[in-house]
Amino acid sequence: MTRITLIEACNISVRRGSVTVLESVSFALHKGEIVTIVGPNGSGKSTMVRALIGALPVSTGKIIRSPGLRIGYVPQRLHIERTLPMSVRRFFNLPRRIDDTALADVISKVHIEHLLDRQMIDLSGGQFQRVLLARALLGNPQVLVLDEATQGLDQSGSAEFYQQVEAVRNELGCAVLMVSHELHVVMSASDRVICLNGHICCEGAPDVVSSQPEYQALFGTDTKGALALYRHEHDHSHDHDHDHDHGSVHVHGHTRSVLPPTQERDS
Ligand SMILES: Nc1ncnc2c1ncn2[C@@H]1O[C@H](COP(=O)(O)OP(=O)(O)O)[C@@H](O)[C@H]1O
Ligand SMILES: [Mg+2]
Repeated sequence: MTRITLIEACNISVRRGSVTVLESVSFALHKGEIVTIVGPNGSGKSTMVRALIGALPVSTGKIIRSPGLRIGYVPQRLHIERTLPMSVRRFFNLPRRIDDTALADVISKVHIEHLLDRQMIDLSGGQFQRVLLARALLGNPQVLVLDEATQGLDQSGSAEFYQQVEAVRNELGCAVLMVSHELHVVMSASDRVICLNGHICCEGAPDVVSSQPEYQALFGTDTKGALALYRHEHDHSHDHDHDHDHGSVHVHGHTRSVLPPTQERDS
C-alpha cells in the first residue's frame, strides 16, 4: 500500500527563547491515519503540533506539508468571554458567515443540531468540545489536529469524543493528529502512538507497542500506566532505526533530557 504523506518533519528542533523545546524530531503523518502524541507536561506536544501546522517556526530542520493542505485545528485552550453572549450558531459564523449547507453538514456529522441556539458558555464540557470539533471540520480538512481536546471531560466523555473523532476520520478519510495524556483511552482509537519528551522516545502501533517490554517499562501494563507516563525516566535502550513501519515498535534513544522533568502546562 502506498501511503500518502501529508506532513513531514525532517529532523526539526524548536527553540522558545533560550530553551530547546524540541530536538531532532522526525515524523510523518499519512493520509487517513490517527496518530496520538503522548508525553509529560511541558514535553513539547503542543509545540510539535503547532510547528507541524505552521503556527510556529522551526529553528533547524524543515517541515514539508503537501501543497494546499487543509488543516482543522482544535487548540488546547479556547477562552470564551463569559460576559459576552454568544450562541453556538454565532460562534460558527465568526469570523465570517458560513453558508447554511456547510453548517448543516458539520453539525450533523458530530450530532449537535440541538445545540445551535444555546449559549456557548452554557454548554457542558463534552458539548463544547463537539462544537470545537465541528468548527474544525468546516473547511473539510485533510488533517484534523486536536490538542488535548478532552481536557476536563470524564473518562466516558473522553471515550465518546474519541469515538466521534474516529467516526469522522472514517467518513472524511482525513488524518488525525491528536495530543493526549489519557493513554488508556486514546490507545484504542489510534493507529500509531508517539511518546514525546523533547524528542521522540518511542513510537508504534498501539497493540504492538503495548505488548512490548519497552512500552510496559514506559507506561506500565494496565490503565494506571497513564500515570506511569509522568514518572518514567526515558533512559531505556536505544534503537536509532526509525523507518515508521506500523508493525513494529521504535525506541528512539537519547543521551540527555532536553527538558526538566516537571514543567508548567502550556504557557
Ligand atoms: N512562548 C513560549 N516561550 C517560551 N517557552 C515556551 C513558550 N511556549 C511553550 N514554552 C515552553 O516549551 C515547553 C513545551 O511546551 P508545550 O509544547 O506547551 O508542552 P506540552 O504541550 O507537552 O505540555 C515548556 O517548557 C514551555 O514552558
Ligand atoms: Mg500542550
